[in-house]
Amino acid sequence: MARCFVTRELPGGALARLAAEHEVDVWPRRTPPPPDVLRERVAEAEGLLCLLTDRVDRGLLDGAPRLRVVSNLAVGADNVDVAAAAERGIPVGYTPEVLTETTADLAFALMLAVARRLPEGERAVRAGEWLTWEPGWLLGRDVHGATLAVIGAGRIGGAVARRAEAGFGMTVLRVGRGDDPRPALARADFVSLHVPLSPQTRGLVDDAFLAAMPPTAYLVNTARGAIVDQDALARALREGRIAGAALDVTDPEPLPPDHPLLAAPNLIVLPHLGSATHATRERMADLAVDNLLAGLVDKPLPHAFGSIPSP
Ligand code: GLV
Repeated sequence: MARCFVTRELPGGALARLAAEHEVDVWPRRTPPPPDVLRERVAEAEGLLCLLTDRVDRGLLDGAPRLRVVSNLAVGADNVDVAAAAERGIPVGYTPEVLTETTADLAFALMLAVARRLPEGERAVRAGEWLTWEPGWLLGRDVHGATLAVIGAGRIGGAVARRAEAGFGMTVLRVGRGDDPRPALARADFVSLHVPLSPQTRGLVDDAFLAAMPPTAYLVNTARGAIVDQDALARALREGRIAGAALDVTDPEPLPPDHPLLAAPNLIVLPHLGSATHATRERMADLAVDNLLAGLVDKPLPHAFGSIPSP
């Protein structure tokens, strides 16, 4: 029986499976354990199951001499110092694939919502501003038949591209790592971001990137907030240099309600809901527990992030 710290309650039965085999300490609150509490709880743990809201840095790992496996409940691992873990021979698990289609659905929901002005319409109904059917009221842009630039050549970008082509008759321009995005941006009606957060992609969407988009184009981000320079985005929206933006992710998260970005026009912001369906979150919890269980008996993780140098 190994000691595990789990940084939040999880949907479904995955944690019961873990608790059947190991001693499990679950952080009971809705908000993440503060860094000092995380450090204290992980200090004696052999397994850590964490979320993208928990920073697992070198200091935390150094203070956890018995730690043998980190299992991150996310498809990204940008919150974990994977290199520092690798130096210690600690595998880092993640939860790819199970959330691909669900996240692609949300990217589409955002694209439709921002282009068809759904939040404005909904607010208008509640505010008593719906006077009658008006020929020129709340007009948006068509998604079907439009041109979509998909930034990132991975699974989620692929699932968005498939929906776009098969369901909406869109022209899809895929921009992979190392490609110059500008030709695709210049032709795009929609730009959807699907790259992991890394030193190379931090601030990728800056003034120059936004300037390469037509003023009629929309930006959608379901990847990581820090990929977008939010000051540059706010400027572009205020000055009408792009038509709108729909973000499921921001930097920081949560975005404080008085954050200046929220004052920008034609902007939708969601509280990081990409993978938030019952079925997908339960699958993610299952994978995260599978990873933790494997690591605790020194087996290869079913889904290990990056590679651990051979001893
Ligand atoms: C969610 O954003 C994830 O990385 O799983």
